[in-house]
Amino acid sequence: MSIVFLNGEYLPQEQAKISPMDRGFLFGDGIYEVIPTYQGKTVGFIAHIERMQQGLSSIGIKLDYSHEDWQQIVDNLVSKNESGNRGIYLHVSRGTDSKRAHAYPSGVTPTVFAFSFEIPAAPTPDKSKVKPFNVTSSEDLRWKRCNIKSTSLLGNVMHFQQSQDLGMQETILFNQQQQLTEASSCNVFVVKNNVIATPALDNQLLPGVTRKLLLAILREHSNYKIEERVITMEEVRNADELWLTSSSKEVAPIITLDEKPVGSGSVGDVWQAAQALFSQYKYQY
Ligand code: PDD
Repeated sequence: MSIVFLNGEYLPQEQAKISPMDRGFLFGDGIYEVIPTYQGKTVGFIAHIERMQQGLSSIGIKLDYSHEDWQQIVDNLVSKNESGNRGIYLHVSRGTDSKRAHAYPSGVTPTVFAFSFEIPAAPTPDKSKVKPFNVTSSEDLRWKRCNIKSTSLLGNVMHFQQSQDLGMQETILFNQQQQLTEASSCNVFVVKNNVIATPALDNQLLPGVTRKLLLAILREHSNYKIEERVITMEEVRNADELWLTSSSKEVAPIITLDEKPVGSGSVGDVWQAAQALFSQYKYQY
């Protein structure tokens, strides 16, 4: 039985009830986070909580939960559920109103919901063992505030589904200028001639925590040249290696893009080095 957190209480998932007038349900009016834990140890906890607080403040939701409050929720969800590797989902909506009206209501209390779910073991940094990704691509048809980790994910869901319908695992997105933004649920890295590049942060992509940790780890513990800049579709299609990063995948190698091989068509050496460093240092950032 899964134990979840709802508005200060821990209870069986079946007993967790939210009003259909909750603005999270009616408008997708909320912010969420997914924090990975391995044997109870979190990866990037502070960065995740800071991003959530930033998101809440950017949409005008006031919630006075401290880092310690969130840490306790994470710890409790780990200890009250099966141990092992668990993702922690945190969700704050603006709250439940008496009517459906677009304007932010005053005096509503945010709804805070959190649960944990099993995640796969972190990938082994071994080219012969990792499961590589096959991805498709699309014009990025989402909104212009993709830096906000909003629970309104229909655009992302539709882009993700494009890949599923083709028997693939992700969709890489390009803006109208044919520049890389991100993927539907991951950030994207490009490797060419041993230079590692990823799109610079702006409103077109989520400031991924895995992206942030990986950049810090590579800068501190490797000699690879690292670039955050505009990346063209042509560069993506001519890359030696492409990777996805996200909290549940860490660094994931892509071997085909739109059914064409990426580089040699097999998992690359730079991926192996990067995932090895990420595995080694991820708890220190
Ligand atoms: N997805 N970009 C998008 C659009 C995402 O949804 C995610 C995360 C990322 C990677 O961010 P991070 O490294 O902080 O996980 C990038 C999560 C895991 C999800 O929606 O389930």
